[in-house]
Amino acid sequence: MRTHTARFLAGVADPRHLPRPGYPEVAVAGRSNVGKSSLLNRLVGQRGLARVSKTPGRTQQINFFLIDDRLTLVDLPGYGFARVPVRVQERWKQLVETYVTGRRSLRAVVVLVDLRRRIEPDDGQLLAYLEAHGVPAIVAGTKADKLRRGERLRATRELVAGVPAGAVCVVCSSTTGEGIDQLWAAIERHVRAQR
Ligand code: GTP
Ligand code: MG
Repeated sequence: MRTHTARFLAGVADPRHLPRPGYPEVAVAGRSNVGKSSLLNRLVGQRGLARVSKTPGRTQQINFFLIDDRLTLVDLPGYGFARVPVRVQERWKQLVETYVTGRRSLRAVVVLVDLRRRIEPDDGQLLAYLEAHGVPAIVAGTKADKLRRGERLRATRELVAGVPAGAVCVVCSSTTGEGIDQLWAAIERHVRAQR
């Protein structure tokens, strides 16, 4: 595994306070508790970089991390957690939508889904939203470690079948590190590509 340097740049709760776009950016989005922060930590190989929690709805702001002084990884607040008040969910939605639509430096969004649950309506909406705004998506099915072999094959097939044409699909686990190299490869392709 490659090692990476990572530095927390900013945490933003107000769309007016987004940091100025700089290096190419790749964001991680997905339902609350799906494992976005864990994935970020695994990608850079630092456990405590992004805060992980058993309580859904933990990441309430957009967190920016500078990686290897050449790209920015972005931890987005999760969606779809019913116990978060509607008012707060609306605020996050606005925050994420402002970010996704207005961000020149954004090269791709990793849409993280639970491999056991595959793509749910909320995820589908996000994928459609990204497509409508010309933002490339990388679909990652995570927590693969929680499935036995037979279940995994079936879940993987169904995940691939549910992904929009053209989007890359990766199966991974932040616990075991499986699929992390493939995910890096997909991220790097988008970092190099011009939008
Ligand atoms: P919010 O910020 O609340 O939206 O959550 P998040 O998507 O950032 O999830 P987080 O990384 O905080 O992880 C949520 C829970 O899932 C934690 O208990 C993690 O340890 C667990 N988890 C994350 N990734 C994996 C994985 O690949 N495998 C397993 N078994 N557990 C995982
Ligand atoms: Mg989080």
